[in-house]
Amino acid sequence: MAKLEIKKDIFWVGAVDWNVRTFHGHTYSTKRGTTYNAYLILDDKVTLVDTVHPPFAGELIGKIKEIIPPEKIDYIIVNHVEVDHSGALPAMLKVCPRAKLFGTAKCKEGLYRHYYGDWDFQIVKTGDKLPIGKRTLNFIEAPMIHWPDSMFTHCPQEKLLLPNDAFGQHYATSERFDDETDQCALMDEAAKYYGNILWPLSAVILRKIEEVQKMNIAIDMIAPSHGIIWRRDPMKIINAYLGWTKNETKRKAVVVYETMWGATEKMARKIVEGITDSGVAVKLFDITTSDRTEVIKEMLDAKGFVIGSSTHDNDMLTTIAGFLEFLKGLAPKNRVAATFGSYGWAGGAVKSVENVLKETGIEVIQPGLSVKYVPDENEIKRCYEFGRDFAGKL
Ligand code: FEO
Repeated sequence: MAKLEIKKDIFWVGAVDWNVRTFHGHTYSTKRGTTYNAYLILDDKVTLVDTVHPPFAGELIGKIKEIIPPEKIDYIIVNHVEVDHSGALPAMLKVCPRAKLFGTAKCKEGLYRHYYGDWDFQIVKTGDKLPIGKRTLNFIEAPMIHWPDSMFTHCPQEKLLLPNDAFGQHYATSERFDDETDQCALMDEAAKYYGNILWPLSAVILRKIEEVQKMNIAIDMIAPSHGIIWRRDPMKIINAYLGWTKNETKRKAVVVYETMWGATEKMARKIVEGITDSGVAVKLFDITTSDRTEVIKEMLDAKGFVIGSSTHDNDMLTTIAGFLEFLKGLAPKNRVAATFGSYGWAGGAVKSVENVLKETGIEVIQPGLSVKYVPDENEIKRCYEFGRDFAGKL
């Protein structure tokens, strides 16, 4: 494969994982695969920034060998401990045993707890500078974006920011740059990444972006550790992050439901008609057949959530319950909701859904709509009006 130079003497030496379909255990579906990006800087001190997921260690080393003998690597910057970026370190250190590692104090601790290696490691913190020849690497600690050990590396001479997971996307492509790839797919994957991984950390991320903006550092390229490199318009992803961190929303609703025998589904479809006829964008998901990662992505810019469940054992059904637990962990702010569902002899689901939404900090803005068994003609009309009322409040 041809060497991929992202700037003069700075090479992408990562790996494209075309086939991975779940991430972070099974919490994240990666329908477009992902990449693990690592970067090799040729200077007086040859420096590798991050590594890759362990199954791709051979590929990383192979790419480096096409550029220089790996034993010439002097420094390895470890921006993040998580295995998809540090997992190839043990293999790397076998081929460049004299390399010195740099990372945060939490990184040192985390690496030890993963690999138990007696490695030459120097702790760095925000403001520390590492001269490597013609270039300097400046470090910016970024705790909880998204692990305590996380760090950004900035090269002022190259106007290059290497922020690891931040600004990334799980998006396997043959293209490496934003100006080469499909913009819709790129932003779709960036939003999905933010919504499912970074959303609960919004306040921390906003503070970090503002802190970096105040540093007034030059950036004309952002090269994250997953997906596409931003070179045409790095501000595009920074501005998108600013909107997401502030929980900015559109006049849009997401209806998510679980149905036992189809009655709650009938209600859902009619509610969606009411929302649609009010001129509000809406998406509908049966949570038992939908990709949860995609549902969360749609919720990221939606003002309103409408959640429905049939009643089972005086409570909501189990798949929607699991989904709402996941949503609670993402801690969305500035959202409103409504609830609905059918029941047989005793209700319970609508109240349970409401309770979880309130615990999540989401305001329930109209009384829940419950229907006994199957909605009749009048109740179907009420579902339509329920949708219209909700849309009118967005
Ligand atoms: Fe891509 Fe937090 O690892």
